[in-house]
Amino acid sequence: MSEKPEVPPAIDIDDIPVNTSGNLSLENVVASRRRLLKGSLGLALGSFLSPALSGCAAPPRHTAELSLAGAIGFTSVPVQQAVDFDQVIVPPGYTARPFFSWGDAVENGASPWRKDASNNWQEQMLQAGQNHDGMAYFPFDDAINDHGLLVINHEYTNPTLHPQGPTMTVDDAGVIRRPVDEVKKEQAAHGISVIEIRRDTEGQWQRVKSSRFNRRLTANSPMHLTGPMAGTDYLKTAADSTGTRVLGTINNCSMGVTPWGTYLTCEENWSNYFVNRDAQDHAQRATHHRYGIAQGNNSYKYQWSSVDPRFDATPQENLDHGGYVNEPHRFGWVVEIDPFDPQSTPKKRTAMGRFARECATLSVAEDGRMAIYSGDDTRGEYLYKFVPDARFDPKNPDRDCLDKGTLYVAVFHSDGRGEWRALVQGQGGLTPRNGFFTQADVLVNTRGAADILGATPMDRPEWVAVHPQTREAYVTLTNNVERGVKSDQPIDAANPRRENHHGQIVRWRETDNDPGATTFSWDIFLLAGRRAESGVPKHEQGNINGDIFSSPDGLWFDHHGRLWIETDYDDEEQPYQDMGTNQLLCADPVTREVRRFLVGPRGCEITGLTATPDGKSLWLNVQHPGISYPASDGKTRPRSTTVLVTRDDGGIIGS
Ligand code: FEO
Ligand code: CA
Ligand code: CA
Repeated sequence: MSEKPEVPPAIDIDDIPVNTSGNLSLENVVASRRRLLKGSLGLALGSFLSPALSGCAAPPRHTAELSLAGAIGFTSVPVQQAVDFDQVIVPPGYTARPFFSWGDAVENGASPWRKDASNNWQEQMLQAGQNHDGMAYFPFDDAINDHGLLVINHEYTNPTLHPQGPTMTVDDAGVIRRPVDEVKKEQAAHGISVIEIRRDTEGQWQRVKSSRFNRRLTANSPMHLTGPMAGTDYLKTAADSTGTRVLGTINNCSMGVTPWGTYLTCEENWSNYFVNRDAQDHAQRATHHRYGIAQGNNSYKYQWSSVDPRFDATPQENLDHGGYVNEPHRFGWVVEIDPFDPQSTPKKRTAMGRFARECATLSVAEDGRMAIYSGDDTRGEYLYKFVPDARFDPKNPDRDCLDKGTLYVAVFHSDGRGEWRALVQGQGGLTPRNGFFTQADVLVNTRGAADILGATPMDRPEWVAVHPQTREAYVTLTNNVERGVKSDQPIDAANPRRENHHGQIVRWRETDNDPGATTFSWDIFLLAGRRAESGVPKHEQGNINGDIFSSPDGLWFDHHGRLWIETDYDDEEQPYQDMGTNQLLCADPVTREVRRFLVGPRGCEITGLTATPDGKSLWLNVQHPGISYPASDGKTRPRSTTVLVTRDDGGIIGS
């Protein structure tokens, strides 16, 4: 029998502000590498391309022109408010089962997960990491709905990683010390898992053991830095005089999928892992303080620097390139991974900018023009898009096209119009007078450059989803209790509520439906929150047509144009208690009806959403459950888990 865990339950330590200042159309059109190599992409994709990308039908210009009557076909599930609720509930006629949990075997030779968390760091390197987040299904072309790769981000670690939680001691100099084996285990539990999955002869999805595709990437896996920053002094450290080679990726939050078959993992709250103890240097180094890197000992949480010098970004004159003062510049990027080539080295694409990046959601026009949308999830930060110079050519895709293009930041005007302002050195005040001498100066301090351009501070932009037919884009603005409270975050039309506890979903249309447009029109799709009734404070009232929720985070369009919304709020705190536990909802973008599809166990966040091209198998992530899920026995240590949802009659999920 397992013991009741003696460590504190997992908490979401991810979305703490650090400074004071869908997409299904593509997931479903993603081609396998083999298909690309055969040069038959256009043909192979024809059967499941969205109309927008295939060009086989003229797409409606606006979502409101679509006919989606009866699009949502399930019975909504009720909120769960019991303090000991420890399950996943889906509508009648559906089944949800745990599929892939922290500690499950990934690479060959992996040890079984031990309930007391006594697996060492070497074992953890071969097992699933913690805090499953963004995720995507990549089909094999032999059986696109029955055989694929599942790629899963492991965002951060919980106290549950260690038998008794993390060990922290304070030495005589007042410096916090960590045991090296614990830090190595935490680093091994970060990163990404790639697992091969297929249906067995009974039609049940199974993880394929001993697959050559199964792979773990961690905080110590070799990666390349590419694009305009590569080789610049900003990226050189005592360990890398080339400025092109970096170890690992951390705090991998949401993601994107490219039509050339790669996965884009996004580095979000990476700044929490670094410290700069030199107060004077910290104050003058915008690439540190504008990104919330800690100044001092106790305010940063992982304390990896006590045993791993590259996380100590204090300048050191006796070491080449100042030691590791530049190491934080090597994080905050989009990292491109080819899941079909286990030997490939991931690439950090610096042209796309550096911030606390939530997602990298592609929009691709019929003629191959592209935009990639990203939120910077910190209170009062911005919404960005990157427009590659190259168009997507199915016959001959430019696999390094993310290294060349233009980065823009969004301005939301109060009249429903918007602008994308280019982050290009020499333009719009990004000049030497303001400290921007090169494009590298702009990219390494993307936030500072966006400040100068007058970007609109947003209520924590999380995921972006692009409608598979119209290419309208939607962004979750999860919440922002500082809105209207802090003078640098005044209320505005796109962020209209003071002390915003519940968040909103904003959508926009590019002018002429051009992904590269520099103007757009926008509206608020919905304000999340409690029902507008007496006793509910005005600033907590939403306008949801249907089942209520708070703090939208994950956002994804299925192949049929249903909008799926995942939530992330503290289910034990007011004003969230009447929402119950975190959940997955489905919205009709035409009628704006919202229906609750799934509720998760107490303490979790619901995130990561992907499906097979036929829409009949769907995976989502239960991140940091608080009690004992998936064992749900009240005593086994909880594990972040990928959950598989299917319909009992084999039908399309949500219809
Ligand atoms: Fe990792 Fe903003 O969520
Ligand atoms: Ca998120
Ligand atoms: Ca969140």
